Amino acid sequence: MAGVPANVQEVLGRFGQTHLLRWWDQLDSAGQQDLLNQIDQIDFDQVIRVWNQHHTQKTVDSASSAGRIDKAAAPVSVVRQPESEEDHIRREAAGKTGERLLSEGKVAVITVAGGQGSRLGFEHPKGMFPVGPVSERSLFQIFAEQILARQRRHGASILWMIMTSSATHAETVSFFEQHRFFGLDPRNVVFFQQGSMPAVDAASGKILMDGPCTISLSPDGHGGLISALQKAGLLKRMEAADIEHVFYHQVDNPTVILCDPVLLGFHHQARSSLTTNVVRKSSPTERMGVLVDIDGQVEIIEYSELTSEQAAKEDANGQWIFWAGNTAIHVFARSFLEELSTDGCRLELHVARKNVPYINEEGQLIQPSDSANPNGIKLERFIFDALPMASVTLIVEGNRSREFNPVKNRDGADSPATSRAALSAICRSWLASTGVHVAEGTAVEVSPLTALDAEELAAALKDGRVRLEQLTGNAG
Ligand code: UD1
Repeated sequence: MAGVPANVQEVLGRFGQTHLLRWWDQLDSAGQQDLLNQIDQIDFDQVIRVWNQHHTQKTVDSASSAGRIDKAAAPVSVVRQPESEEDHIRREAAGKTGERLLSEGKVAVITVAGGQGSRLGFEHPKGMFPVGPVSERSLFQIFAEQILARQRRHGASILWMIMTSSATHAETVSFFEQHRFFGLDPRNVVFFQQGSMPAVDAASGKILMDGPCTISLSPDGHGGLISALQKAGLLKRMEAADIEHVFYHQVDNPTVILCDPVLLGFHHQARSSLTTNVVRKSSPTERMGVLVDIDGQVEIIEYSELTSEQAAKEDANGQWIFWAGNTAIHVFARSFLEELSTDGCRLELHVARKNVPYINEEGQLIQPSDSANPNGIKLERFIFDALPMASVTLIVEGNRSREFNPVKNRDGADSPATSRAALSAICRSWLASTGVHVAEGTAVEVSPLTALDAEELAAALKDGRVRLEQLTGNAG
């Protein structure tokens, strides 16, 4: 095996992974280099340790997961949607605090955009999906325009960090370039790539290959954010810019209120390390993670961990225990992100059993399909595992119809149709509050550059900056 560095041979031997070099002698020098680069990225010690735990302790894991679920209670301290006059006053005060933070340039945004739109039948980065009900604006454009509008309103710049994966990076960057960053200053828009993890054969612990010089790799989960931020020098950049809070959201929800001053304000007032926006789940089995208290600590239980009976469990007052759906809208204290990045990354790796294509000893590509016993395990980190590590956490209930309308499935719930309908409904309600009534079901859309809320829309209509026909796409 001429040309394999001695240290690589040693490491592969120590972890039982010499099969990665099975085709070495048949590769050209570019292929050999490519393979060495992939091997170099792998933390074999960690991968094999997690595989070992999974392999030997499967039953213990499921027992401890059941224990957590039994102990879980509805979260105790939540800032609920306002009902009383007092609640409204508190929200208003939080909003003012948030606006001050924005005008002082203390806030940055992170969008996790490592996913493709494959579940929608859209083979591009999901952020490129055309979701605008009238204009077909992409998710990315809606976010960009919200950030630009906030910058103008608060008179300060906002650093926007977009996390991509190897599958979405190049196309995302060129999409922004093609659209001239939707009017944003490119110096304030940073694309940084999350890492990947190798897939492992569940039975043997051998890392899988999908070609003679390619290891089966997949994105390391949104928890990969922590090491990716550090690698890209973004923690340092935020520190240098005196940014204190980071508004985090997923690429799939066009109705997120980016840099929501109210959420930022509550977070700041509570000196929270990690604040999470929740909404009431529409049904116990809705595919949302839920915020719970376990032994006095705030945690998330993923929907995949709950059976439908568990998900519907009620407390003594007949209220769902698992009501507080995770919208994946969070605010992080920058200092907490820094803490999480010490010693590499403190978030644990989760194991998912999946069917992973691989090449066998004869070099044939095998596509496993046994869903009862998938051949591989994939490893990823979840950002919300940071919750129990935070010294102060806060949960704030959002307004579901206004803030949470993601695009996840091709049809049915959380589909482009429901998301577009929600965008139109929000715009119709803003118009209604100014006395303009548009028939139910009519597609209406307002650019965030025209208005971020009902008051701004009323002003834009009044001073003629926009006409109703433009919002419905009927402008002549
Ligand atoms: C996720 C949450 C769930 C929450 C719901 C709200 C997880 C495990 N669960 O579920 O608690 O209630 O959203 O909508 O996240 N992403 C990356 N890189 C990755 C993996 C994901 O950037 O390696 C991004 C995706 O682009 C997407 C987001 O993370 O923006 C969510 O990922 P997805 O796997 O679709 O999560 P859900 O199952 O919808």
